[in-house]
Parts: sequence; structure tokens; C-alpha cells
Amino acid sequence: MQNIILFGPPGSGKGTQATRLVEKYKFVHLSTGDLLRSERKRETKLGIEAQKFMVKGELVPDSVVIGMIESAVQEAGDVTGFIFDGYPRTVPQAEALDALLASNEMSIDRVLVLDVNEEESTKRLLDRGKTSNRKDDQDESVIRGRYKVYLDYTVEVAGYYEPKGIVVNIPGEGAIEEITELLASEIEAIA
Ligand code: AP5
Repeated sequence: MQNIILFGPPGSGKGTQATRLVEKYKFVHLSTGDLLRSERKRETKLGIEAQKFMVKGELVPDSVVIGMIESAVQEAGDVTGFIFDGYPRTVPQAEALDALLASNEMSIDRVLVLDVNEEESTKRLLDRGKTSNRKDDQDESVIRGRYKVYLDYTVEVAGYYEPKGIVVNIPGEGAIEEITELLASEIEAIA
């Protein structure tokens, strides 16, 4: 059982790489962004509330996403491991995840940080915004706001895991296949 956090700013390739690693290692991929968009699509109360934060590029309240991840982990049952994508994004989320995993006799093995600078992140998301229906990719100020939220609230989550010696930085700019190789070699190095 291996549990990985794919970490990094908006547009760093977390979702892209998670999909490729799931194919290779059969992890269960849990993306809070995808879970929230699915709630919104089904027009649930949670999805409608969350949308108010998402369109502005702000974080959805911890209580909402923590509860959502707890349900998703319990529903997944017996699996070979999880890739958490876009979660945790705050220190309280990280503490809640540790407690949840510990209560299931699990822990996080690696936090793999995809390093991508603000200009590359902005360019990728504006490009995607031309063809996707993600409103938060269609306004440069919202995209830059998401990057700022990452710097202000999310970077410290890597600091939270640092003393455990499980944080690894990976260059997130370059060919998608080469980045997958770098991530795979880190996963395969886990004892
Ligand atoms: P979320 O859905 O998590 O979005 P994000 O992290 O802001 O950004 P993305 O998921 O769009 O980026 P990514 O790193 O996955 O990159 P991707 O592979 O898609 O969150 C959306 C919102 O939901 C948040 O703003 C917040 O409101 C809320 N939310 C979610 N989780 C939350 C939480 N835990 N707590 C509170 N609120 C939460 O790639 C992006 C683009 O780049 C794609 O077009 C892709 O094709 C391209 N690309 C990928 N890799 C490369 C490469 N190597 N070279 C060139 N292009 C590339």
C-alpha cells in the first residue's frame, strides 16, 4: 500500500500526471477539484455552495473538503493505494488526512511537488480555458489569484510534511512523459 500526494500550483500537471500514474500503478485517484465539479454538475447543495468559491479561485472551506475526502476514502474500501490530487491544500486538511489515514492504519509515503512557475501555470490554464468549460480558467486575474492562494495557504502544507522526510520536488516544466518517468522513479524507490 502506497499513498501519494501530488502537490503543486494550479496547472502544474497534478491531474495529468495522476491519470498516467493510475494507469501504471492502479492507484485510486482522489481529486478534490474533480469531486467538487461532480457535485456542482449534479447540482447538490454542496456543489452549489462550493461553486461560489471556485469561480473566484478561492479555497472551499476546510469542513466541506475534509468531509468529502473522508467519505471518498471510506467508499474506496480495500485498495492498493491513493493518489491525492489537490488535497490537502491547508494545514488543517493535512492534519485531518493524517488522522483519517492513521485510523485506517495507513499514512502518506511521499509528497511529490511539481514545480511550475506562475507564468507557465497561467499560460497553460489560459490555453485550457479556450476550449474547456472551466470558468476559473477563463479569467487571467482568477488564474493568478489561484496561484497566490497556493503561495499564501498551500505551500505551507509541504512544510508540514517536511520533517517526515517525505517531500520530493520534481521539475514540472517539460515533456509530460519525462515528468511521469521522474514521478515513477520516486514511487518505485519507496521501500
Ligand atoms: P483544482 O481542480 O484542484 O484545480 P487547480 O489545482 O487550481 O488546477 P488544476 O487542477 O487545473 O491543475 P493541475 O495541476 O491538475 O494541472 P492539469 O494536469 O489539470 O481546484 C479547483 C478549485 O476547486 C480550487 O480553486 C478551489 O476553489 C477548489 N478546491 C479544490 N480542492 C480544494 C481543496 N483541497 N480545498 C479547498 N478548495 C479546493 O494541467 C493543466 C493544463 O496544463 C492542462 O491543459 C494540461 O494538458 C496542461 N499540462 C499538464 N502538464 C503539462 C506539461 N508538462 N507541459 C505542458 N502542458 C501541460
